[in-house]
Amino acid sequence: MSRFVIATTMALGLALGVASSAQAADSKQVFEFYCAQCHGLAGDGKGVNVGKDFATDPRNFTVTADMEKRSDDDIRGVIKDGGPSISKSPLMPPWGATLSAAEVDGLLAYIRQLCKCKAAK
Ligand code: HEC
Repeated sequence: MSRFVIATTMALGLALGVASSAQAADSKQVFEFYCAQCHGLAGDGKGVNVGKDFATDPRNFTVTADMEKRSDDDIRGVIKDGGPSISKSPLMPPWGATLSAAEVDGLLAYIRQLCKCKAAK
């Protein structure tokens, strides 16, 4: 019995270890699933959703000069609470009910990779 418990605990530990080391790859997948249809697979704001009816273009995350003005809290906030939370377009939906805090942090890190920039001071 105790041998069984130890084996199970080890298997669980392994599974968790794999999950956290796969975090970066996961964030790319989360981005491609939830965000790319507007922000584009490359994060350049040219997703398939964006046609002439889009009143406000989704942010192009690859423009360093724009994205470095945003603090990490700004970016987390707009992902969780949507465009209107920072007086931006409601075309940017709120994701706080869909994504976990860890997924939002992962997306923040992924966006920082796309813009090759750090947070505004
Ligand atoms: C339905 C289209 C759509 C989807 C899907 C979408 N966005 Fe947006 N997003 C927008 C638009 C449009 C804006 C620009 C709002 C503005 O400038 O007024 C925006 C703005 C943003 C901004 C603000 C950038 C800035 O100006 O500071 C962030 C960050 C962002 N989106 C992240 C995400 C993330 C992460 C996802 C996926 C979880 C996502 N968006 C999904 C349309 C979308």
